[in-house]
Amino acid sequence: MVRVSCEPSGRAVEVEAGAPLAEAIRSAGLPLGSSCRGEGACGWCRVRVLGDPGALSPPDPRERALLARLRAAPGERLACQARVLTSVTVTASYW
Ligand code: FES
Repeated sequence: MVRVSCEPSGRAVEVEAGAPLAEAIRSAGLPLGSSCRGEGACGWCRVRVLGDPGALSPPDPRERALLARLRAAPGERLACQARVLTSVTVTASYW
């Protein structure tokens, strides 16, 4: 099991390694934007990784393309596309 901490809410949840980040965040009881139902097309589920970006699965070419189109800051990921590999802390402006 690995821990997903969501700041600044202070909420955290334990999930199996490899679990989708979006599921982990929602199971922590936090909202996550989405208009594409997790298809990696809208970018509303963007979160920022605090710490080691290697705690999440690397972005695939489609995610990289959308993040580039959105001019995402370094460390930002699509929660619907990223999988949790090791314990991680993420943040969103609306938590
Ligand atoms: S929910 Fe649309 S990109 Fe993640």
